[in-house]
Amino acid sequence: MAHEVRGVVARGKGQPVSLETIVVPDPGPGEALVAVRACGVCHTDLHYREGGINDDFPFLLGHEAAGVVEAVGEGVTDVAPGDFVILNWRAVCGACRACLRGRPQYCFATHNATQKMTLADGTPLSPALGIGAFADKTLVAAGQCTKVDPSASPVAVGLLGCGVMAGLGAAINTGGVTRGDSVAVIGCGGVGDAAIAGAHLAGATRIIAVDVDDTKLDWARRFGATHTVNSRETDPVEAIRELTGGFGADVVIEAVGRPETYKQAFYARDLAGTVVLVGVPTPEMTLELPLLDVFGRGGALKSSWYGDCLPSRDFPMLVSLYQQGRLDLDAFVTETIALEDVEAAFEKMHHGEVLRSVVVL
Ligand SMILES: NC(=O)c1ccc[n+]([C@@H]2O[C@H](COP(=O)([O-])OP(=O)(O)OC[C@H]3O[C@@H](n4cnc5c(N)ncnc54)[C@H](O)[C@@H]3O)[C@@H](O)[C@H]2O)c1
Ligand SMILES: [Zn+2]
Ligand SMILES: [Zn+2]
Repeated sequence: MAHEVRGVVARGKGQPVSLETIVVPDPGPGEALVAVRACGVCHTDLHYREGGINDDFPFLLGHEAAGVVEAVGEGVTDVAPGDFVILNWRAVCGACRACLRGRPQYCFATHNATQKMTLADGTPLSPALGIGAFADKTLVAAGQCTKVDPSASPVAVGLLGCGVMAGLGAAINTGGVTRGDSVAVIGCGGVGDAAIAGAHLAGATRIIAVDVDDTKLDWARRFGATHTVNSRETDPVEAIRELTGGFGADVVIEAVGRPETYKQAFYARDLAGTVVLVGVPTPEMTLELPLLDVFGRGGALKSSWYGDCLPSRDFPMLVSLYQQGRLDLDAFVTETIALEDVEAAFEKMHHGEVLRSVVVL
């Protein structure tokens, strides 16, 4: 049996999204049908709509979601109908060279549902990041469902499905921030603020937020920033050095995805410090650095994919910290909206007016 439900579809490059009837198949082997409860609007959805990811239109957007498993296909044992789950876009395969070496967070063969969701006329849809959760129901690989405590708010914990996990993990997993560290975060959108929250959670004593927008810097304080720098007015490298005894921060997290902010991160860290790139650059961007500085400054230059998270390990733990009041996920939610409002939410995101708009179903 197939299910006819509503879904937010991007039909062509730069075209406004539309709410359409989509057809979602019953789950086949290894798949799960999920009734979506909440889905955050992420910058990547907008990238898809603008054709910045690939040209596989039409897209079914939405990928930062929580919901309830409605049905599972043959061979699925990890989740069952009725389970409350957060959807993830890196379902670990367990068999690739990264998984076999005990580094499943780097899995090189992550997977999605095999069957296609379609428009009413049968046109296959490309689900954003293999999820497609701006819809009443979606079809995913069962491994994309991570079971968490059903008493948690889907609006809040669904955010762990993308941007908030990426930022928290950039600090905690990739950056290895620990007690007593100084941390600087460049770019304080949803991802950067989550990196600030992660640094705070991990015990960093000095957390410097850098942005070009004062409103964003005000918000950053709510997540644990101890100092803020507006890099339109002040040289951020000098400011970060000044705030760290003249040395630079132990860990600098770049959450914009631009060469100039990466360079700031590179020079704003202490000798042997760590730079984490979590912002996603576009294909034409290049970077030039004196190789002697790369050598002479030592330390580690790392990229962070999805916060190097392992959903089965990290999602339940972070939900628990949220429930204990130690991780304020609610603070990321600027507004809750309906499926029809996704296009308006893109507009607000583009103008920097929101941290997260969350579709509630
Ligand atoms: N690595 C991953 O797995 C992953 C996952 C999700 C998102 N991302 C990426 O993270 C980045 C941030 O995402 P977001 O949702 O927080 O976006 P956002 O648009 O909400 O935030 C970006 C922030 O950067 C600030 N900014 C812009 N130019 C700046 C500059 N020159 N100097 C300082 N600050 C500047 C903006 O004012 C804004 O506050 C994006 O590139 C996104 O694609 C990465
Ligand atoms: Zn793998
Ligand atoms: Zn995302």
